[in-house]
Amino acid sequence: MSYPYQLKSIEAYRAAYKKSVEDPESFWTEIAENFKWRKKWDKVLNWNFKEPRIEWFAGGKLNITENCLDRHLETLGDKPAIIWESNDPEERTRVVTYERLHKRVCQFAQVLKNNGIKKGDRVCIYMGMIPELAYAVLACARIGAIHSVIFGGFSARSIADRLEDTKAECIITCDGAYRGGKDIPLKSVIDDALVGNNLVKKVIVYTRTRIPVSMIKGRDVWWEDEMLKVTDTLPVEGFGDAEVMDAEDPLFILYTSGSTGKPKGVVHTTAGYMVWTNYTFVNTFQYQPGQVHFCTADIGWITGHSYILYGPLSAGATSVMFEGIPTWPDAGRFWDIVDKYKVDILYTAPTAIRSLMGYGLDPIKDKDLSSLKVLGSVGEPINEEAWNWYNEHIGKKRCPIVDTWWQTENGGILISNLAGVTPSRPSWATLPLPGVQPVLVDENGKEVTEKDEEGFYKGNLCMKAPWPGMLRTTYGDHERCRTTYFATYDNLYFTGDGALKDEEGNYRITGRVDDVLNVSGHRIGTAEVENAINMHASVVESAVVGYPHPIKGLGIYAYVIVTGFHGDEERTRQDIVQTVSRIIGPIAKPDKIQFVTGLPKTRSGKIMRRILRKIAEGELDKVGDTSTLLDPAVVDGIKEGKL
Ligand code: PRX
Repeated sequence: MSYPYQLKSIEAYRAAYKKSVEDPESFWTEIAENFKWRKKWDKVLNWNFKEPRIEWFAGGKLNITENCLDRHLETLGDKPAIIWESNDPEERTRVVTYERLHKRVCQFAQVLKNNGIKKGDRVCIYMGMIPELAYAVLACARIGAIHSVIFGGFSARSIADRLEDTKAECIITCDGAYRGGKDIPLKSVIDDALVGNNLVKKVIVYTRTRIPVSMIKGRDVWWEDEMLKVTDTLPVEGFGDAEVMDAEDPLFILYTSGSTGKPKGVVHTTAGYMVWTNYTFVNTFQYQPGQVHFCTADIGWITGHSYILYGPLSAGATSVMFEGIPTWPDAGRFWDIVDKYKVDILYTAPTAIRSLMGYGLDPIKDKDLSSLKVLGSVGEPINEEAWNWYNEHIGKKRCPIVDTWWQTENGGILISNLAGVTPSRPSWATLPLPGVQPVLVDENGKEVTEKDEEGFYKGNLCMKAPWPGMLRTTYGDHERCRTTYFATYDNLYFTGDGALKDEEGNYRITGRVDDVLNVSGHRIGTAEVENAINMHASVVESAVVGYPHPIKGLGIYAYVIVTGFHGDEERTRQDIVQTVSRIIGPIAKPDKIQFVTGLPKTRSGKIMRRILRKIAEGELDKVGDTSTLLDPAVVDGIKEGKL
């Protein structure tokens, strides 16, 4: 596999960037020519941000799995596509070659068809990080079913909401999943999610932990039995034809939090997403054929979709998939994996780096990390301390670090240095990728043209033009997509992030400017957590803000008014945490709950979060003007009770 569009020098980057802005159609035509199309596109790009309507490669026909699998068979058939490392370091590695992956995907695609799934149907996937998860995702794409992967940290109730929103008729799950020292009963959570649901017709269950599970006749089937039917009755050559998809047919839905209480289903389509994940993978990480790429994300998040599966596989790369967690059975797990598989590229999150830093250098000692060539960071701003540690102790000061800024809605990396090609700079995402046109605006949507005291342009980060991997809609509610991303500022896509820019055009992301928290690199809407807290029987009202957390980046701080305590304060606190865990999932549990008698509100009843944020951050003397509050005295009470 060669990548003629790989940018190998800063001059090549600058030239590509210029062309991508001046003549996007011919720029993307040249890149898209490198893929396998059943029919070429009629028009590279149609767009307006008003509706919004965004179409890339309209009229083109393809199947993304033919690009991720079939086209590699001849040259890479016996090469590893996925190297799977179990949660249990003693369990044997599973090396899935391109040939095997192709075969399994085709077989499982047939299983889906046998179970009545067809093009356009939505399939929810709730599995641990095992190769079968990759087969399931790709098999959906193979037959044109729209996959929606749900991260294992979401509760039955969250799954039920997603099932209702997608109107899914099929779920693919496992009996259970291993994660560190825990066994997670996935099927049992699905069973709870299915109470009252009468749309789901099939649940396909893969055996991983063999814990007892309920299996309902007519609805629940074992993965292994279904696969046997396929392999027994059909020769491999007899099936596997990929559905021919339109460039703009939806590929998947992935839910993400926003400022409102309800997660939204971000929709990505086929061709643009494929080109974008491939282009950004090959360029940001400077992937070279034969290298081993290890992205530590979970496939339940966009990073796993784009940089464990679609990006690397479309590039014929070898992708490591890890079932476990970085600290189990000890904090040397990532380094063992790097050593064992001679990983070239390691892509992880600042929260993981900070957590591993806390274990000191012992877990790294005696690990051979010399295979590493490129390090990546994603999910939140990487603080200088974590950057320096990563650079010094993992990269041994010889590996470029790419700080990749992007979002679920973006499909792939938008702003990042290119490893070894454009300069890296601690805590700066640096330059936009070709095709990406950022602009910083003030509250009125006017481009910021004046520098601040520190010499930076500072504003809300927007995009002026579409790139192939951007979201097309939010599932079932296009208006929500418009109001969330395209209505804040005229003719701009608004990211929800704030940023700084220097004279050379480098960007530094400063964080969310809306009511979304970035906790351990995961997006959690404060409104969503508040809704969950308010469901607790004794809760009258609550307000949630973020506060700096040494490992998670931000922790969740909840101010809660209750009618009384059941037992004592601590028990009630635990009950509230349990409620949030039930309603959203363990990932949204508040770190601190402070009981208060009132919340700082304006006369019009709006909660002044700025004040609550300052108190949670410990900046008690910086709460600012409280004179516009209905009852300024509540602030003193809250300050006194600060946790
Ligand atoms: O605030 C930004 C932050 O994560 C948000 C996107 O979250 P999500 O859709 O869950 O996707 C995470 C993985 C792509 C952004 O709005 N973010 C992501 N990467 C960075 C970042 N903030 C600073 N630097 C980054 N490299």
